[in-house]
Amino acid sequence: MSNQVRIMSILVALAACSQPYQQGKMLYESACANCHMTDGSGLAGVIPPLASSDFLVTNRDLLPCIVRHGLEGPITVNGQRYDQPMLAVEGINDVELANILNYVQSQWGDPEIFYSPDELRRLLDHCTPGPVHLDQ
Ligand code: HEC
Repeated sequence: MSNQVRIMSILVALAACSQPYQQGKMLYESACANCHMTDGSGLAGVIPPLASSDFLVTNRDLLPCIVRHGLEGPITVNGQRYDQPMLAVEGINDVELANILNYVQSQWGDPEIFYSPDELRRLLDHCTPGPVHLDQ
């Protein structure tokens, strides 16, 4: 590898790390969009939307546990009931999870909501074992 190529690849790697929003968007598209759709609209009656979802704001602190451990039982999103389990999303680390949730909140929830890696770990430490269960 020439020095120039080596420097270029270091710069590319640095640029990727410094763009949490871009990483969140890419991970959202690979880990969530096949169910919740790229535009966050979900699937009528079966998969709840993330776009303009009131759930994102009212259940803000539960979102890390939902993505890490799954969600079961009926929920209400924007006045509509959903009752299909969401499985735990595997293969994403804590920083990647924070980036996905920050992307989702800035895109569709409350852009003021931000999960720092420290806060995210603290919320994950308080997850109950198994999938999150809400009876709404
Ligand atoms: C295999 C399909 C599937 C995948 C993949 C998936 N979800 Fe879900 N998700 C669901 C279903 C189904 C529900 C409703 C669960 C219920 O009814 O209890 C849900 C519920 C939710 C909710 C709460 C309700 C709402 O719409 O606000 C959030 C937030 C959420 N998912 C975020 C994510 C994120 C972020 C990812 C990617 C990291 C993801 N989901 C990946 C199927 C999926």
